[in-house]
Amino acid sequence: MNLPTEVRYRPYADWTDQEKAEIKAHVAASPWRANYHIEPKTGLLNDPNGFSYFNGKFQLFYQNWPFGAAHGLKQWVHTESQDLVHFKETGITLQPDHENDSHGAYSGSAYPIDDKLFIFYTGNVRDQDWVRDPRQIGAWMDKQGHIEKFDDILIKRPADVTEHFRDPQIFAYEGQYYAIVGAQSLDKKGFIKLYKALNNDVHKWQEVGNLDFGGTGSEYMIECPNLVFVDGKPVLLYSPQGLDKSELAYDNIYPNTYKVCQTFDTKQPALVDASPIFNLDYGFEAYATQGFNMPDGKAYCVSWIGLPDVNYPTDQYDYQGAMSLVKELTLEDGKFYQNPVPAMTNLRTSQEAFADKAETDNCYELDLTFKANQKTELLLFADQDGDGLKLTIDNQAGKVILDRSQAGVQYATEFGTSRQCSLDQAQEARIFVDKSIVEIFINQGEKVFTSRVFPNAGQTGIKLLSGQASGTYYQLKG
Ligand code: FRU
Repeated sequence: MNLPTEVRYRPYADWTDQEKAEIKAHVAASPWRANYHIEPKTGLLNDPNGFSYFNGKFQLFYQNWPFGAAHGLKQWVHTESQDLVHFKETGITLQPDHENDSHGAYSGSAYPIDDKLFIFYTGNVRDQDWVRDPRQIGAWMDKQGHIEKFDDILIKRPADVTEHFRDPQIFAYEGQYYAIVGAQSLDKKGFIKLYKALNNDVHKWQEVGNLDFGGTGSEYMIECPNLVFVDGKPVLLYSPQGLDKSELAYDNIYPNTYKVCQTFDTKQPALVDASPIFNLDYGFEAYATQGFNMPDGKAYCVSWIGLPDVNYPTDQYDYQGAMSLVKELTLEDGKFYQNPVPAMTNLRTSQEAFADKAETDNCYELDLTFKANQKTELLLFADQDGDGLKLTIDNQAGKVILDRSQAGVQYATEFGTSRQCSLDQAQEARIFVDKSIVEIFINQGEKVFTSRVFPNAGQTGIKLLSGQASGTYYQLKG
């Protein structure tokens, strides 16, 4: 939703209780609230932030402007989880209340150090002329959830970077803390800066250099770069804005991508033998994915189900955006896989053999297998007229297609109404439906489609239109 700057940057304290109550009432009127995905209580949710494990719990914050479906003065909102499936909002927030984050507590990461959680994020600061000064800043969160901001700026904007410099990700490699930060060069190309903490003191960051990851610089900015180690290999997850489509085919306004690399050379600095760039997700929306490694090496990530600069049908209800399921990352024979965590099965309340269903509550999981060399068409959110969200598994042409054109309220149609990926044989799919969210994991997470769909009343069915599919329907907890 487009709102004037004065509204979007109005101080939090100036919003009256009545205004806040009205916003809450608007949200409550939405027919599309999700059951088992994180959504903002009010306003806009964007990037996952500070995804980490601390104090015996998973920690996950999200970017939020609480007063409507627009990108305004951002805060971090804290959630925690024991199982990566059930997340609870704690009421803890990282607010834009310091001179170093006066115009927004922008995205960043977190890492447990001793008995505290170190939060590394971007303070968005603007002067009277609205000129931006991005500051990489820090805070400690203790076990009681008390947040104490540092007063020092940890990394100032370097001379070879424009105002677009943000989203620090801290990680440890061979006992040393490093951070990568998304940047734009003076000639408007996206790149990534690498820093290291001197003597592992998170107050003292020194530039190592520009991280060579085999990028071409065809993008104008790299947002939310993340380095995770998957089965020992460095994998770069990033959101390159303006990436040239000759480099990678994509339809969303901005893609979310990855590269699998062989080694991390901290001296060069470089991600050595980087693969070509790939789409992390083939659906209509997945962006700003954030990953982290557990002490045992497991790699998890979570994505914003939403995109910058796009209006959504929920905007009229004063909220926008959701968090994806948490995905576990693995590599097998050099191939990258993303899968829901095993505990997702705990949401199942009953099961039955897969068959057409005239009516569901749009809160279920399907585990399906398909026939080789056959084309299968499946309609989700199906209505009486035969409209709905069409998933085509085309094992003749070697393609998977998701067509949203007949499903619910249309939006962002200038970016097309279908998405597809090439895949020789799609043998199986795990599909999660949650009211207005669909996440599809094909061939054990080899390809993923994450999307919103805003069904009309009556779009609640499941129908096999052609071909064959067998498997199980699981009712999921509301
Ligand atoms: C990505 C992003 C980040 C920034 C944040 C602000 O969606 O633009 O680069 O830190 O959102 O909300």
